[in-house]
Amino acid sequence: MKHAFGIDFGTTNSACIGILDDRKITKYTDSEDEPFPSIVMIDKITGEVICGRDAWNQRQELSESCEIFTSIKSHLGTNKSWKIAGITWTPEMIASQIFLGLKNQVMANTGKHLKFESAVVAVPVGFSSKKRKSLREAARLAGIDIESMISESTAAAFHSYEKIRSFSQIAVFDWGGGTLDISILENDKGTIKELAIGNEFLGGDDIDLKFSKYVHLKLEKEDPKNISFEDMPAKYRDWMITRCEAAKKEFSYKDVVNIRLNKYGEYGTISVNINYQEFNRLIQPEISRALECLDSTLRKIHLNIENLGCVLLVGGSVKLRPFIEKIEADWNCYKVYPEESDWSVSYGAAQLSIQEGQYILADSIGVILSNGNFYPIAKGGTPLNRLETTASFAIVEDTDTAHFIFTDSHENVLEYVHVPTFGFFQEQVDVKLTVDQNQVLRFVARSRKRSDKYEVEWHYTSPKLIYQLPVKI
Ligand SMILES: Nc1ncnc2c1ncn2[C@@H]1O[C@H](COP(=O)(O)OP(=O)(O)OP(=O)(O)O)[C@@H](O)[C@H]1O
Ligand SMILES: [Mg+2]
Repeated sequence: MKHAFGIDFGTTNSACIGILDDRKITKYTDSEDEPFPSIVMIDKITGEVICGRDAWNQRQELSESCEIFTSIKSHLGTNKSWKIAGITWTPEMIASQIFLGLKNQVMANTGKHLKFESAVVAVPVGFSSKKRKSLREAARLAGIDIESMISESTAAAFHSYEKIRSFSQIAVFDWGGGTLDISILENDKGTIKELAIGNEFLGGDDIDLKFSKYVHLKLEKEDPKNISFEDMPAKYRDWMITRCEAAKKEFSYKDVVNIRLNKYGEYGTISVNINYQEFNRLIQPEISRALECLDSTLRKIHLNIENLGCVLLVGGSVKLRPFIEKIEADWNCYKVYPEESDWSVSYGAAQLSIQEGQYILADSIGVILSNGNFYPIAKGGTPLNRLETTASFAIVEDTDTAHFIFTDSHENVLEYVHVPTFGFFQEQVDVKLTVDQNQVLRFVARSRKRSDKYEVEWHYTSPKLIYQLPVKI
């Protein structure tokens, strides 16, 4: 019996779902029955690591003694590093602590006999191959092999498939803590094609910051000390943001919230009441930006919200009360709120680990022949795992370089590749195509008369793909 795990590695929260013995679904919640906060704290002196809920709870207390990482996902694939307590930490090493935290949570829930060594991990649409590689390395450091990566929107769509299956065009609106990710999917009996994507670096974190600045300004007006929010010590800014994040959520069921901090620098103990109308007015620009992002993504494919069938709303920030009020009033289309929106991406990923679907190359990639015709090496419509091939070409003149022009089927140039040849008329040049784990297409070209060191490689890192959901559904 297979144990399958699905992970939603989020900027703010990470969630893990297990499907044990092919059917028992387990949601690995933390001590507060929530997903795992994606927060890692490293002690500046001892190098000790605290992460997840423990880190979240001790964040204020340890804000000076620890280095705090709250959105390491956004640093994956970069060359950043941090020297803490004599160790150089890379984004992969820090992210691996989150994978390790998830793994420990699973072990604590199910006992040591269970092996948690692989998972399907969801990634944002348009997550670059560099970031994929970096995420894979982070998981590997925690002893988790990433079986496959699935786009967060496809995972969410799969989880809610019963509710959306009758629609041919679906917008997945995933508004998280760090980003808003939109994908417009075309659904043809389970074959999911991404028609357009859009994203905006706008998430719950930005709203929390704006709200914090607003509360600070209100305080400053009541009790002027001539200190801007930016000039407050980092510790107090962090406390204010944490309190405002909680208050933002309280507006889901309250009309007035009280922001109280026992200590807020020179302002001492503070207590500020904010009513819902104020909050609503304050964040209207962010809501407009989010809606504009959906509109502009739809415009790319000549659609608008009126003629779209359905919107699937996932991510924590879609619970924002002013946002819900706005879309309930303005959108006529069918709106799907998954039952457990915080878990829907990881749930879909776990289901896809059991009933694997497949990626298909959407468009051909090939070369332009000397007669001007396009010759596909990677044929559109082929499943990714059956794409590997070798194509042979002969040079048509006595030259020491064979010039390849790689294009898509519309003959849009993707790359020029120059392969050293020996200079024989009709000398053969082989182009070998392989596909790596991160869905990168690797073309390796070499003359049969030349040794390996004359090989030339070209990597196509962002092929357009179609995802075919498992046939069982
Ligand atoms: N009731 C609520 N009202 C408003 N915002 C909420 C509510 N509940 C959660 N949020 C916000 O949702 C955000 C977290 O959402 P989510 O867990 O989907 O993010 P993520 O997946 O970690 O981030 P990303 O998808 O950007 O990588 C936080 O900013 C949180 O404050
Ligand atoms: Mg998310």
